[in-house]
Amino acid sequence: MEKIAKRKIMLIGTGMVGMSFAYTMLNERGIDELVLVDVNTDKARGEAMDLNDGLVYAASKMKIKAGSYEDAADTDICVLTAGAAQKPGQSRLELVKINARITKGVCEELKKNNFRGILIVANNPADIMTYVAYKTLGLPSNQIIGSGTVLDTARLRHALSEFLGFADSNIHAYIMGEHGDSSFVPWIHSYIGCKSLLEYLDENDISLMELQNIYIDVRDKAYKIIDLKRATYYGIGYALKRIVDAVLNNEHCILPVSSYQNGEYDRTGLFIGTPTVIGSRGVERVMSLPLNENDQARFNKSFDTLEATIRENLG
Ligand code: LAC
Repeated sequence: MEKIAKRKIMLIGTGMVGMSFAYTMLNERGIDELVLVDVNTDKARGEAMDLNDGLVYAASKMKIKAGSYEDAADTDICVLTAGAAQKPGQSRLELVKINARITKGVCEELKKNNFRGILIVANNPADIMTYVAYKTLGLPSNQIIGSGTVLDTARLRHALSEFLGFADSNIHAYIMGEHGDSSFVPWIHSYIGCKSLLEYLDENDISLMELQNIYIDVRDKAYKIIDLKRATYYGIGYALKRIVDAVLNNEHCILPVSSYQNGEYDRTGLFIGTPTVIGSRGVERVMSLPLNENDQARFNKSFDTLEATIRENLG
């Protein structure tokens, strides 16, 4: 009988974001091994020991250990969270230099140890770190996924669900673009269940400006959380679980991850938040939407912001 494929996940970075993601894995049944890697090996060992203590009462029966890049060769999915976090008032883009150095170093080690799986990148500025990982690792672009605007979109759907009074599972609205200040919502492609959101607003005399203000609060939510508790981690931890689940279960679902652009939105060569079909091979395809003039301009501005930041800081 052919050996049953072992499903192995590696987490690089055992800080609050990484461990919030790791903690969600205790509820996963389909994983055989979770390897925690951190430059601070004591931290990785301590987190592995602590997480193991939850297994008895959890759904998962996976093996959890502190490991190293030598575990990379048979790793199916690697989640990269290692890096500096935003300080109060600091934008994600301001982290580009320090986190590009960390991302490059991590990916050089992964490459050296024959990592050939799916890499999910969540350190900030996530879209640019995904690009750095892609350029360093040399794997096909479909195997490199940034967390993109998956978290932003979850925040938006929750806020719209509360404002409009519908289940968040019926709010089909996406935030696109940079995981950051230049993102936008293509409202024309938003739905409540099977009904156009714009039609619903017209029929119920709700101004789109109210929703745009909700989006602005969502866009800036991380700054507010960081002001209050110095970091964000539960939301991104669960967003990473959502992406990992889509890969592990070959879901063919559409998530606004940061995926490599081949001109689906008239720009190529970088990673940015766009509705993308995700399955066991990583990115299956980027869903191209017909953007109106305003939304295309917003997309271009977001893409050009990322491009300029790379040019000005990474040479
Ligand atoms: C946030 C971080 C993950 O938006 O960028 O909370």
